[in-house]
Amino acid sequence: MTFPDAFLDELFARTDIVELISRYVPLKRLGSDYKGLCPFHSEKTPSFTVSPDKQLFYCFGCSTGGGVLQFVMRAENLDFAGAVHFLADRANLPVPEEGVDRDARRRRDTVYRLNRAAAHHFHEVLLSSAGEVGQAYCRARGLSQGAVTHFGLGYAPDRWDELIRAMTKAGFTKADLLEAGLAVRNKAGGLYDRFRGRLMFPIVDLRRQVVGFGGRVLDGSAPKYMNSPDTPVFSKSRQLFALNMAKNTKQGRLVLAEGYMDVVSLHQAGFDCAVASLGTALTDAQALLLAKYTKEVVLAYDMDAAGQSAARRAIEMLGQSGVSVKVLRLRDAKDPDEFLRRYGREALAALLAGSETQTEYSLSVLAARFDLAGDEGRLAFCREAAALLASLPSAAERDVYTRRAAEMCRVSFEALAADVRRERGRRARRADRELARRASQPERTIQPRAREMRYGNPRSASAEEEVVRMLFHDPSLSEMAAGLVTAEDFSVPLLGRIFALLCAWYREGRALAPHALDSHLTPDEMSHFVRLVSRPASLAHGVQALRDCAAVIAAERALRRAGPAGEDPLLVLQKVKYESQIS
Ligand code: UTP
Ligand code: MN
Repeated sequence: MTFPDAFLDELFARTDIVELISRYVPLKRLGSDYKGLCPFHSEKTPSFTVSPDKQLFYCFGCSTGGGVLQFVMRAENLDFAGAVHFLADRANLPVPEEGVDRDARRRRDTVYRLNRAAAHHFHEVLLSSAGEVGQAYCRARGLSQGAVTHFGLGYAPDRWDELIRAMTKAGFTKADLLEAGLAVRNKAGGLYDRFRGRLMFPIVDLRRQVVGFGGRVLDGSAPKYMNSPDTPVFSKSRQLFALNMAKNTKQGRLVLAEGYMDVVSLHQAGFDCAVASLGTALTDAQALLLAKYTKEVVLAYDMDAAGQSAARRAIEMLGQSGVSVKVLRLRDAKDPDEFLRRYGREALAALLAGSETQTEYSLSVLAARFDLAGDEGRLAFCREAAALLASLPSAAERDVYTRRAAEMCRVSFEALAADVRRERGRRARRADRELARRASQPERTIQPRAREMRYGNPRSASAEEEVVRMLFHDPSLSEMAAGLVTAEDFSVPLLGRIFALLCAWYREGRALAPHALDSHLTPDEMSHFVRLVSRPASLAHGVQALRDCAAVIAAERALRRAGPAGEDPLLVLQKVKYESQIS
């Protein structure tokens, strides 16, 4: 899909990367760049860099990088076109219709329509006589008629083709049903309904489209819950159940629960701020999504071991998205639904009002791990508590919780505070050393492990990288470069493509811009490119360096042409030599 160049130019001119990213993560100025904690992976020391000059971001920790579009694609769970629309909305710029991928959009629209029709169908079935068992189940679980309507709950009868029949009658095809994940193909090639004999929970996104379903069995059989698979309109790890409702809450925060039932019960009891991740551990995308809609999240996870370990992870991830986290400790109940049924809404409201901050919670979890009656346990607690307290960014918070922790293990506030200060000093020195190391070391060691590209011909590849880097930093070299080498000379196809794109871009007399590549590279390819250009190019001797690199590329190309690798002993030898030199 393509958008007109003039439109994209204007869009990027109106979007400032620092201003955009600051809305997601706090950034601190460091020289000509900005630094912050990476929103795309968990980290404690900032490896995430934003360059306003280049309009690029790059994370040295997870090697994610790109321009404003790649950022929005990742942060908002959008595809390329979606990200363009998102930025255009922000910039108040109308998107030219022409050129949008009509086919893909039509397919997505069909899936949306089918999902909606299916949701209506399940709901009607639930209310009809065929849905008696479903209604009885809802009653048994204490769900009101109002909640059933509000959430559009439904029932999928225990038959093999109930939905397939109804939907084909309504004009949808088998291909549509498969694409929406509502039907499954059996070995013989026939189709059957994915959801059978289940209470159905439609999952609605922020644009009020039905994107998928969760379905619960009515008896004790397994699996208890089944979700729609990922489809062109649904990605489980990027959705939060009921966020479409909870985003409008007036309660000033969001409650994050584990299950569908918890959310429905919570809303029914008046807590319209409840959402749930869909059965999985909270993902980065979901944490970012929460951060977009609230400053405070109360975790209402199950009280079992799995729920509590999920809570610890969620605390860490949400903390990094700049959200303050509190933890609800349900007493004598497995989950919020059970608690409400047993003790009612006032009890839950009281619990919510008194919910622990994450630090209180972490301290009490810590206290439970050690025997605070004995000296050994008290000392071990102090050590771990000092580490925890040292990571608190605010001095006031450190003071408050250091006092609390000191009381818990009966040591003096002064002694524990001194430990915390020492720990902070250690961390600051470690962070400085790390920064210095990253700045001084040759790039090989700072290259992250993940998604690293393996080059077949390292000698040519490093010359190719250098050419791309030089071109990016100094467009005036492009004409000369185009005369010296062509994309076909490159041993790494991706680098060749980038080279050709940059040359074409500059040939049109357009200014330096990372988005020259936006619509041509996948997000991972873009990350790779940004990693390259984040390193300094040898600008001092631009022309000579370019000539040298071009010579290397041409020579290697000639060697490759001389015969396929493996047949030419000279070439094999040479490759071995270079590889061992580098690794
Ligand atoms: P739970 O097992 O805690 O269920 O799963 P629950 O929410 O308490 O449900 P009820 O009260 O028994 O009806 C929590 C969430 O994990 C996902 C679902 O999203 C569920 O809501 N899950 C659970 C699955 O996806 N598949 C399963 O088989 C079980
Ligand atoms: Mn439950």
